[in-house]
Amino acid sequence: MNTFYQKVMVDERIGYMFSHIQGSHWQKYLEKMYRFWESNIFDVDSYQGNPMLQHIEV
Ligand code: HEM
Repeated sequence: MNTFYQKVMVDERIGYMFSHIQGSHWQKYLEKMYRFWESNIFDVDSYQGNPMLQHIEV
């Protein structure tokens, strides 16, 4: 996840969509993404967000 998002941050096509996430907020965002993937891959109930709504807003 960390390596992936390091690439996302500087990606010329999508990096700007994440430019509002600054400093320690990246850590919070990454922790949310860990929970998202953990919930999906390992069937752990640690993420309760709504990604579809988030992406519609983006
Ligand atoms: C080019 C493709 C994508 C872009 C540009 C994108 C962009 C974003 C942005 C800007 C956010 C909001 C960050 C914030 O302010 O908190 C977000 C949230 C999120 N994205 Fe994506 N995304 C992409 C693809 C995906 C894919 C493929 C997945 C999963 C398979 C995904 C899962 C999520 C999740 C789980 C969140 C958090 C939603 C919440 O707040 O609960 N995204 N994405």
